[in-house]
Amino acid sequence: MTKTYKIAVIPGDGTGPEVVREGVKVLQAAAAAERFKLELAEYDFGGERYKRTGETLPESAIEELRGFQAIFLGAIGHPDVKPGILEKGILLTLRFALDQYINLRPVKLYPGVETPLKDKGPDDIDFVVVRENTEGLYAGAGGVLRRGTPDEVAIQESINTRKGVERCVRYAFELCRKRNKAKKLTLCGKTNVLTYAFDLWERTFNEVAREYPDIAPDYAHVDAICMWMVKNPEWFDVIVTDNMFGDIITDLGAIIQGGLGIAAGGNINPQGTSMFEPIGGSAPKYTGLGVINPLAAIMAVQMMLDHLGEQSAAERVERAVVKVITRHLKSMAAGRMGYSTSEVGDLVAGYVAEG
Ligand code: IPM
Ligand code: MN
Repeated sequence: MTKTYKIAVIPGDGTGPEVVREGVKVLQAAAAAERFKLELAEYDFGGERYKRTGETLPESAIEELRGFQAIFLGAIGHPDVKPGILEKGILLTLRFALDQYINLRPVKLYPGVETPLKDKGPDDIDFVVVRENTEGLYAGAGGVLRRGTPDEVAIQESINTRKGVERCVRYAFELCRKRNKAKKLTLCGKTNVLTYAFDLWERTFNEVAREYPDIAPDYAHVDAICMWMVKNPEWFDVIVTDNMFGDIITDLGAIIQGGLGIAAGGNINPQGTSMFEPIGGSAPKYTGLGVINPLAAIMAVQMMLDHLGEQSAAERVERAVVKVITRHLKSMAAGRMGYSTSEVGDLVAGYVAEG
């Protein structure tokens, strides 16, 4: 019997809809080639809807989204809306409500993609960051006193639970085993200063490590990790870290793998509905110009296929992307690809159909 996947599509703001269109094009090409079916449902959550209705995510949306096998998200962020409203009201609400406790960010330099790192190539830059996605500084704990006065106090607390840390660390060990590369898992922390939070992380990490004798456990402070990611990225296989550090080091990761034109991520709930997105944001100044690189959105589709268990389709998409990069694109940067957004989508879809 043919498999059917129910996928929710949230194009979102700015260039989100343009890149999502190409992602869907490639997803459909993969489905045709690998003979599975898709049921896509589009949702208009984002800045425009918020401006029109004052609503970020309607109450019913979360329950509805739980009924899908995956969500494909374009970008959230609108120049007319105060920073924080859409990010918290849509993106973070979805991550938390759907308990997508892993933010998975592969940092892989494909052949033909330019990296700003001198003398580093595809053999040197191939690791994955596992970012905790529901706790830490993102949990929203804290408050403000005497706001706007000279005596103002602002407190923003990092929430770390044994359960939250352990499930994240376990996921990272499992992933490291499954990748079967250097079999090295690096905990990225700050045990020398954040002596409560990262004490919990370190103890949990060391305890779980005993169950994975085939994986070499490793530790580095977050500031040192930033340095090594630039100087010796080949040292890393899998990195596991908290929400805030993960946010920061994955932007560094994105730039060394060729930039936001190619970098994708997954918000994973291994038992529930996961959400895949290009990590670049809504890039409002490029909206509607057809110059933005859709490969990040296409790689988000690739991650989604892999997550759904469609490995052969995922590999097809990855092969097609590599062909488009090595045979066609002049650059990964918006406006400098030598092709329009939809032409890049057509090229990838064409190679997906070929095999
Ligand atoms: C990301 C983004 C988000 C984050 C923002 C948009 C809230 O930067 O997915 O990394 O900080 O998690
Ligand atoms: Mn970020």
